[in-house]
Amino acid sequence: MRRGRWLVRWLGTGMAILALLTHSWGQATEDWQYEECKLSRPGPPATIVTIDEESPNGTVLVENMQINGRAQDPGRTISLILLDNYDYWVILEPARQRLYLNSTGRILDRDPPNSITTIVVQVQCTNELVGTVILHEVRIVVRDKNDNSPKFQQPRYYVSVNELTPVGTTIFTGFSGNNGATDIDDGPNGHIEYSILYNPSDPVSNNTVRVGNTLSGIILLAERLNYEDKTRYLVLVQASDRAPYPPNRLSATTTLTVDILDGDDLGPMFLPCILVNNTRDCNPLTYRATIPELTEPIKLNPLNVTPPIRAVDMDRNIQPPSDRPGILYYILVGQPNTYREYFSLNQTTAVLRVLKPVSRDLYQRFTLIIKVTAEIKFHLLSLSMWHLLS
Ligand SMILES: *[C@@H]1O[C@H](CO)[C@@H](O)[C@H](O)[C@H]1NC(C)=O
Ligand SMILES: *[C@@H]1O[C@H](CO)[C@@H](O)[C@H](O)[C@H]1NC(C)=O
Ligand SMILES: *[C@@H]1O[C@H](CO)[C@@H](O)[C@H](O)[C@H]1NC(C)=O
Ligand SMILES: *[C@@H]1O[C@H](CO)[C@@H](O)[C@H](O)[C@H]1NC(C)=O
Ligand SMILES: *[C@@H]1O[C@H](CO)[C@@H](O)[C@H](O)[C@H]1NC(C)=O
Repeated sequence: MRRGRWLVRWLGTGMAILALLTHSWGQATEDWQYEECKLSRPGPPATIVTIDEESPNGTVLVENMQINGRAQDPGRTISLILLDNYDYWVILEPARQRLYLNSTGRILDRDPPNSITTIVVQVQCTNELVGTVILHEVRIVVRDKNDNSPKFQQPRYYVSVNELTPVGTTIFTGFSGNNGATDIDDGPNGHIEYSILYNPSDPVSNNTVRVGNTLSGIILLAERLNYEDKTRYLVLVQASDRAPYPPNRLSATTTLTVDILDGDDLGPMFLPCILVNNTRDCNPLTYRATIPELTEPIKLNPLNVTPPIRAVDMDRNIQPPSDRPGILYYILVGQPNTYREYFSLNQTTAVLRVLKPVSRDLYQRFTLIIKVTAEIKFHLLSLSMWHLLS
C-alpha cells in the first residue's frame, strides 16, 4: 500500500509538471500569434468599396486589407489567397495586401446586358503560425456612370392633326410606355426628359407645339393651325437624361412629323383664282360667252363659257372625301331681268344652257351673277361668293 500511494503521488507530481510545461508552451506561442489574420482596423468585418463602371485595368480597389501579419518571405506569418473570384475581376497582391481591378481586354459595365453591379470576393488568410484560417469578405460596389445616351425606339414619329384642333389639346402621346427614348443607365442617368428644339429646316415648328409633360413627352398644340398656310410641321424633339451634373447629360433627337388635316373652315371659290396680294381672297372673276343671235338652243348648248364655270371649296382636303362639301351653282340675279326665260344653269355641273333664241334687237348683253355654295356637312357657317357672267 505504501508503495502504491507513492506511485500515485508521483503520478500526481508528473501530471503537475506536465501541466506546467504545457502552460509554458502556451506562453511561448504568444497571444499576438493568434491575432494574425484578424483585421487591424475597427469597423465592420466586410470591406466595402465603390468603383465607377468602366474603370481602367489596374484601378486599385482596396489599398490595404489591414490584415494582421506578414504575407511574404522572409518572416512570413500569413498567406493570402483570393476565393470566389468570379470571372477574375480582382487581382490580389499579397505582399501589400492590395486588390486591383482586372479589366484586361474587357469593360466593367454596370448596364445591360452585363449588368455588373457588385463584385464580391473572399480574401482567405491562413495563419502560418497556428494554422487557423479566416475569410475576409470584400464587396466592390460598381457605381453607375452616365455612359449611355438615350435612344429613340423608332427612327421617326408621326401624327396627324385636324387644323381646327383647339390650342392646348394633346396631339401626341407616342413617347409613352417606352415607345419614346430609353436609356440603360441607372437612376437619373437613365431617366428621360423631353424638350422641343428649334428646327432650322422648319423654323416655326418649335412655336406650334410644346411639351405638356417633360417626363412622359406628351405634345400639346401651342398655336392655332391653318391647313391653308402650312400642311406639315417637322418638330425636332430632344430626349435627354437627367444626370445630376447637367454638363454630363447625354441626349438624342428625333423628328416628329405633324401633318395637318384640312378642316371645314373656308368657303368655296371660283376658278381660276388670282389671289389679291398677300391675302387668301381671289380677285373678282368674269366668265364670258358669246351667243349668235336667233340660233336654236340645240345648236348652242351646252354654251361655251371661257373659262369654264367652276368652283371648289377652299378646304380641298377634308378627309374622308365624303365629308367634303358639295358645290352648288345658282344664278343669283341677272340683267335684264328676263334672263330667266333665256338661261338655265345646272346646279351641280354649272353647265349653262340657252332656253330660246335671243334677238340682238332686244338684247345685246346679259349679265348674270352666279352664286356658288358649299353645302356644309358637319359644322361652321355657310359661305358664299358671287361672280359676274357677261
Ligand atoms: C492589368 O492590371 C494588372 C494589375 O495592375 C496588371 O498586372 C496587368 O498587366 C494589366 N493588364 C494590362 C493589359 O495592362
Ligand atoms: C484577368 O482577366 C482575364 C479575362 O477574364 C483573364 O483571362 C486573366 O487570367 C485575368 N488575370 C488575372 C491575373 O487574374
Ligand atoms: C423657337 O426657337 C426660336 C429660335 O431658337 C426661339 O427664339 C423661340 O423662342 C422658340 N420658341 C419657343 C416657344 O420656345
Ligand atoms: C400687288 O403687288 C404687285 C407687285 O408687288 C403690285 O404691282 C400691285 O399693285 C399689287 N396689287 C394690289 C391690289 O395691291
Ligand atoms: C344637271 O346635270 C346632271 C348631270 O349631267 C343631270 O343629271 C341633271 O339632271 C341636271 N340637272 C338639271 C336640272 O337639268
